[in-house]
Amino acid sequence: MHIENQERVIRPARNVCGTLRLPGDKSISHRYGMLAGFAQGTSRFTNFSTGEDCASTLACMEALGAEVRRLEDGTLEVTGVGGRVKPAGVPLDCGNSGSTMRMMAGLLAAQEGSFTLVGDASLSRRPMERIRKPLELMGARLTLTEGHAPLHLEGGALKAINYTTPVPSAQVKTCVLLAGLQTAGTTTVREAVRTRDHSELALRAFGARLTRTVDSVSIAGSQVLHAIDAIVPGDISSAAFFLCAAALFPGSELMLDSIGLNPTRATLLDVLTALGVHISVLNLEEKNSELVGTVQVSAPQEGLGSTAIGGALAAQLIDELPVLAAIGPYTNGGIRIRDARELRVKESDRIALVVKNLRAMGAEVIEFEDGVDVPGGQTLHGAMIDSGGDHRIAMAFSVAALRAEGETLIHGAESAAISFPEFFDLLDLVSER
Ligand code: S3P
Repeated sequence: MHIENQERVIRPARNVCGTLRLPGDKSISHRYGMLAGFAQGTSRFTNFSTGEDCASTLACMEALGAEVRRLEDGTLEVTGVGGRVKPAGVPLDCGNSGSTMRMMAGLLAAQEGSFTLVGDASLSRRPMERIRKPLELMGARLTLTEGHAPLHLEGGALKAINYTTPVPSAQVKTCVLLAGLQTAGTTTVREAVRTRDHSELALRAFGARLTRTVDSVSIAGSQVLHAIDAIVPGDISSAAFFLCAAALFPGSELMLDSIGLNPTRATLLDVLTALGVHISVLNLEEKNSELVGTVQVSAPQEGLGSTAIGGALAAQLIDELPVLAAIGPYTNGGIRIRDARELRVKESDRIALVVKNLRAMGAEVIEFEDGVDVPGGQTLHGAMIDSGGDHRIAMAFSVAALRAEGETLIHGAESAAISFPEFFDLLDLVSER
């Protein structure tokens, strides 16, 4: 059940220490849930994401005929429809989840029947033209409302295409691949900036054949997916809040077990290292083609340096930019972010909210259309934070609040549950006061 308008008080901390194991990666869980619901047989997952977004994906797959069971030991069992969904008869509710809507559209475009995808107010403001374009090139019939959800699809046989994504987006790439999986011929997606490749790895794990080059991925049509058993790695984008919290306190000691370290997702570790944070990765292993390891961090005595993020890095770090901006004032040299215009069309306008909330805490910050400049060496005070109902804004400013003077009140704190319901409890657990 979604509770609205919860507030959360965050008091300053003296240090951040401890060992945590985090719930499963949201991006991987979406893909495992969707592919398992579509495949033949029963898949079993441990450490599946506990977030509301992945629950939206599972609920949509159930409405399309998949069976979803949560066992007492926490295992998630999904029995798939064997490649043919049943028309839902009711609109499929994607909640707050752009991944659900965009990826599901590709899966359903090649299925017989009519499908309507709806979302909450935030999702209904987000751009959907980016999936209409390639799906129409494949021959799909898709109706949007002024470029937004509700999205209506008349599914049916499609034709293979060769498509270059105009904006770096793993969701758009996946949308085309899932349509291509069911389409005669070979569908190719080319991208200028390599985005997260969980779909490619997950499709292979479910038995599909894909070929990849440096900047493209091709999938042959008419392939059957087979159920898998998998452990979902801990979510590195959730870990980001704890890594950044630990980065703020010289003498911190934080260990995060079994975190997903897929190279298309782990750029944050390089950025934190460049800022001077001591990071070690232990027990690195591969599970269902995804890299998993334990991450150990401690902050430098001399404080954090400075960094500039732009170009391909901005796309690879897109979900971590709000928390990096939020810790910017506490660095010695500041954080500069550019080429991140996509932040304006996430669950909220994340650039606008980062600027508004940093200023509320007394920070100096300069706003750009595609980023921010956050000077370093600043002292912040507690404030009322407007999360805008955006999980990553609520969590980013809870981290900034740990080093502020006085208490901070996070409005819309419940939004953290979109990706990370356990966030506030775990933050309490590792914050020393
Ligand atoms: C995601 C891709 C990214 C990211 C989102 C999850 C995914 O979105 O911001 O949180 O799981 O594929 P875009 O594809 O819009 O860049």
